[in-house]
Amino acid sequence: MNILETGIKNVRNATRYSIGAGALADLPKVLANRRAQATGSVVYFIDEFFRTSQQLIDRLAIQPADQLIFVASKKEEPSTDGIDGIVADLRGQLTQNPCAIVGMGGGSTMDTAKAVANLLTNGGRAEDYQGWDLVKVPGIYKIAVPTLSGTGAEATRTCVMTNARNGLKLGMNSDYTVYDEIVLDPDLPASAPRDQYFYTGIDAYIHCFEALAGHYRNAIGDAFSRETLNLCRQVFLQEDMMSAAHREQLMVASYLGGCAIATSYVGLVHPFSAGLSVVLGIRHCLANCLVMHAMEPWYPREYEEFWRMAEHQGIEIPTGIGRDLTPDQYQALYEATMIHEKPLTNALGEHFRDILTPECVTNIFSQM
Ligand SMILES: [Fe+2]
Repeated sequence: MNILETGIKNVRNATRYSIGAGALADLPKVLANRRAQATGSVVYFIDEFFRTSQQLIDRLAIQPADQLIFVASKKEEPSTDGIDGIVADLRGQLTQNPCAIVGMGGGSTMDTAKAVANLLTNGGRAEDYQGWDLVKVPGIYKIAVPTLSGTGAEATRTCVMTNARNGLKLGMNSDYTVYDEIVLDPDLPASAPRDQYFYTGIDAYIHCFEALAGHYRNAIGDAFSRETLNLCRQVFLQEDMMSAAHREQLMVASYLGGCAIATSYVGLVHPFSAGLSVVLGIRHCLANCLVMHAMEPWYPREYEEFWRMAEHQGIEIPTGIGRDLTPDQYQALYEATMIHEKPLTNALGEHFRDILTPECVTNIFSQM
């Protein structure tokens, strides 16, 4: 295979992390340090799933001057307009920048916290920073508390946002997007719905098989990817994927998978998945699973293993979403997929357009 230069030479990981059941108890201590060092309150972004989990919220020791914002993660993924709206509201309410931002939830919540942290110090609008290394100065100090494992948002240097005006699903890829601290408490995903836990967890597996099959490679990223796949196999091919031990393994897989993808690129699954998200509004992790319906010719080993995992865990993957769409919808799907040149080059080489003709792309979508 023709190995390509990633362009990623100097990699930044999250500065500090803690892991273990009950690690959430560390968060108020970490924030007490921040409050002592810097002025300003704390802004918490918490997944709406926990809106009624008063016991959990009480454990955060939120102070009266702090802001608590529930992120509507179920309805939609972060959008550039949505992020701009949150930043405008915060600017109206705060007299100075917060001393810390906490993102507690799944990928959408963690990404929202990252984007807001960058915008509060950099100014401008979210879409100004969609791309690579456009963020000029460090964001607000930020801490991730994942409550679902798989997307790796706690570890990556991006925060994915959809821009409705140009159909671009792209994040702020920047060293400044990387979390300063992460608190990995495997007790937190225990209350997640089983299907959501699977869809999200399998994102780590998909990231890493795409990276390892790609043309752009990084020796450390490859090692992270191999261990991520190893952990995902233990979680999804053994008994209950949601046991305490497996929740911890998946949390590690998500973190390592995020580190892996920070040094490389995804492959074919993610551009098609992004097409489903942008055109049909399907959420990222479910969209990945739908794309797997059509991946047998492209990733045969992983295709077989993915379906074995889903069956073993008793998870249903919907079918039929890509059938019988209008020509305009297939055209929009083609465009929203082909815009992802880096991952497509990673998967198929520089001449990916010769392989992924409009007919070929429509055929792939129609199998979902
Ligand atoms: Fe993903």
